Amino acid sequence: MQNSIYSSKSPQSNRTVIGELIETSKIFRSGKTEIVALQKANLKIRKGEVVLIIGPSGSGKTTLLSLLGCVMYPTEGCVCINGINTRELNDREMAELRLKTIGFVFQNFNLISPLNSEDNIRVPLLLNRLPKEIVRDKVNLALQLVKLDQRRKSLPKQLSGGEQQRVAIARAIVNNPPLVLCDEPTASLDNNSIKIVLKELRSLADNGKAVAIVTHDQRLNQYADRIIRIENGVLKELSERK
Ligand SMILES: Nc1ncnc2c1ncn2[C@@H]1O[C@H](COP(=O)(O)OP(=O)(O)OP(=O)(O)O)[C@@H](O)[C@H]1O
Ligand SMILES: [Mg+2]
Repeated sequence: MQNSIYSSKSPQSNRTVIGELIETSKIFRSGKTEIVALQKANLKIRKGEVVLIIGPSGSGKTTLLSLLGCVMYPTEGCVCINGINTRELNDREMAELRLKTIGFVFQNFNLISPLNSEDNIRVPLLLNRLPKEIVRDKVNLALQLVKLDQRRKSLPKQLSGGEQQRVAIARAIVNNPPLVLCDEPTASLDNNSIKIVLKELRSLADNGKAVAIVTHDQRLNQYADRIIRIENGVLKELSERK
């Protein structure tokens, strides 16, 4: 089955596409069992937009985001990031593309446990060979954005769930990537932190980034340009703010 969720009348449709799925599917196989996590789908995520991805547990949201984030290869079809077909990249090139182009906030944070907050946030900057002062300034800015300057030396296990989530968000945006993907970024946050984080993600989009957010949280709708629903691995509908 194929799903195209884009309307040709989309007001956003003349904007540069950063992330694209073309006839992309993902099937997990173990022994004789086959789980179709994502049915063949087409999707474009463009510069300047915040896209929400919603759907029930197990419907394929993390799979969709992981494909866009180059964390996994598709079973069929293509994933294109900035016009580059990831099938043509080897593992090292894929890792480099991921590091330079994509900021990923994982559902379970994926912080590196022996590293404190500032060292976790610094990780995406390490391969860029930037001068030390620039790295320090970028890390400081990201820490301030998520209001965690006071906890810069804390290890993940010393932080609350919401604080770990904010470190993960700071790490995802520290490199200023054109594509920001967030898997339930507000699940552990209080109202005030949600506002701070979503305003920041909204302003990233307003400054030309593409932002995709998996969420169950309807409070996020007001920050979105489009909402995509996924059910049983099928991308179902698109709503757009006019
Ligand atoms: N590595 C894997 N191996 C086998 N099956 C998997 C794997 N990852 C995901 N799945 C299956 O694919 C389907 C989609 O999973 P996915 O994690 O994308 O759901 P989700 O919408 O993110 O759910 P949740 O809201 O609970 O996070 C589920 O049935 C899941 O069990
Ligand atoms: Mg998930």
